[in-house]
Amino acid sequence: MQPEEVSITVNGRPVRVAAGTSIAAALLMAGEPSRFSVTGEARAPLCGMGICMECRVTVNGVPHRRSCLLTCASDMEVVSE
Ligand code: FES
Repeated sequence: MQPEEVSITVNGRPVRVAAGTSIAAALLMAGEPSRFSVTGEARAPLCGMGICMECRVTVNGVPHRRSCLLTCASDMEVVSE
């Protein structure tokens, strides 16, 4: 049986989301960017289907993960890039 909610951290902040929530959605709900452009602008998920790469984040120490394609799991650590 799947839990109703999971807890993750986004840039060190605890965030609780419904089970099955994508990391991209969790980032938007937390008001956190996915990454920063080379000029320092905050970026956010755009296409939501794995094409644009704007949603790249580091997940559990692994960089360049597409957050729109990943589901939140308990104790995941998500860091903006
Ligand atoms: S939002 Fe475009 S690849 Fe994830």
